[in-house]
Amino acid sequence: MTKFSLSGNKSGENIELPVLSGTLGPSVIDVRNLYAQTGHFTYDPGFTATGSCASSITYIDGEEGVLLHRGYPIEELAEKSDFLEVSYLLLNGELPTSSEKEKFEYTITHHTMVHEQINYLYRGFRRDAHPMAVMIGVVGALAAFYHDATDIQDPYHRMIASHRLLAKMPTIAAMAYKYNVGQPFVYPRNDLTYAENFLHMMFAVPCEDYEISPVQARAMDRILILHADHEQNASTSTVRLAGSSGANPYACIAAGIATLWGPAHGGANEAVVQMLEQIGSKENISEFVKKAKDKDDPFRLMGFGHRVYKNYDPRAKVMRQTCHEVLEDLGIDNTMLDIAMELEKIALEDEYFVNRKLYPNVDFYSGLILSAMGIPTHLFTVIFAIARTVGWVAQWKEMIEDPEQKIGRPRQLYTGPSSRPYIPIEKRS
Ligand code: SDX
Repeated sequence: MTKFSLSGNKSGENIELPVLSGTLGPSVIDVRNLYAQTGHFTYDPGFTATGSCASSITYIDGEEGVLLHRGYPIEELAEKSDFLEVSYLLLNGELPTSSEKEKFEYTITHHTMVHEQINYLYRGFRRDAHPMAVMIGVVGALAAFYHDATDIQDPYHRMIASHRLLAKMPTIAAMAYKYNVGQPFVYPRNDLTYAENFLHMMFAVPCEDYEISPVQARAMDRILILHADHEQNASTSTVRLAGSSGANPYACIAAGIATLWGPAHGGANEAVVQMLEQIGSKENISEFVKKAKDKDDPFRLMGFGHRVYKNYDPRAKVMRQTCHEVLEDLGIDNTMLDIAMELEKIALEDEYFVNRKLYPNVDFYSGLILSAMGIPTHLFTVIFAIARTVGWVAQWKEMIEDPEQKIGRPRQLYTGPSSRPYIPIEKRS
């Protein structure tokens, strides 16, 4: 086994730490015995160079712009697969046979309804509540509905919780939208595909039939594939950490939704469209690029940059193509797409962005497609959450089944006061 030598253990001698190698990507220095041998912790705010687990689900090569799910390139899955098939792959490790796929689709389809009591939860929210706040509340509340399957050490219980979450997220999301716009909830239909069902629950009304556009259903399915999983991102790491304590799986996914909401993470798709609306015309682009480069200005170019990708996010490439397809299908001459394309061109020629390897990420184009499909901006991150649920659940399941995993409990570099005596209030200045 490769070793990593380090000087400075407690008695000043050199120590050797094991180096572990995976299938692809960087090897890791196993520091589990570092404190015992040296009295030192590692220090890595934001975990920029820290591996939190071993995982076989998703591989990202940030330098090359590569994204593999169980070894399959995202570009191929987006073009040739569908979201439920990718979900099966993420959860089980292999693409399903036709009978396995048919059984999985049947199982998920027949879990899409929520308990009728769930309907009443929405009434506790203001109609104008942000749908991500509603999602956190309602998904977390599922923990109160399924006491029959919360023994997470039981593989069957883990499977049923996974299927329920994957199946019910679109229903809960569409109900949040209907509650927001004051329309009646629309029940799922078992004759529709996953993406078709979501569009149906979002836009159907009791007064007339709702015709699903095949182009929009395919675009929605592709958006779900592109957002399904992404290694140890912030929200997935949250789900793993929450799950490591043995917490209820529905509560863990609610924690993931909360993390995804941030504008630095999944909330960026909403922020991109707000930014493009703020820019308003191509003539204003240079002013905003200047703001993004100004260290004294907190403004960042939303949809640009990534902790791992230092090349074009492969998902953004597929998203840009899908954007053109949907806008063409809808016959929309989209000013915002023109601004986005011009902004991308200018940024990718600007040395500030080139030197920092800031490229468009998955969020840069997704909002434009969702806007064109009539989905309100504040629902964009909700759709990201629908897609990422299968990634969160697959990673949660892998963590529970990993014999090396234990409760997550990081340490720190303490910078506070040394021990000091209590001061009675009358003696405080
Ligand atoms: C997602 O982790 C994942 O995998 C996430 C995700 C997933 O699928 O789960 O891919 C989904 O969250 C995509 C990212 C969406 N967020 C945004 O688009 C928000 C805008 N982007 C940034 O906030 C930023 O790029 C991050 C948060 C995405 C990454 O930040 P890092 O890795 O902490 O990088 P950094 O802040 O250290 O930036 C490095 C430099 C800094 O400048 P200097 O200090 O070197 O002078 O680049 C600058 C930053 O100021 N910079 C930007 C910028 N992003 C980074 N400057 C202007 N605009 C930007 N968008």
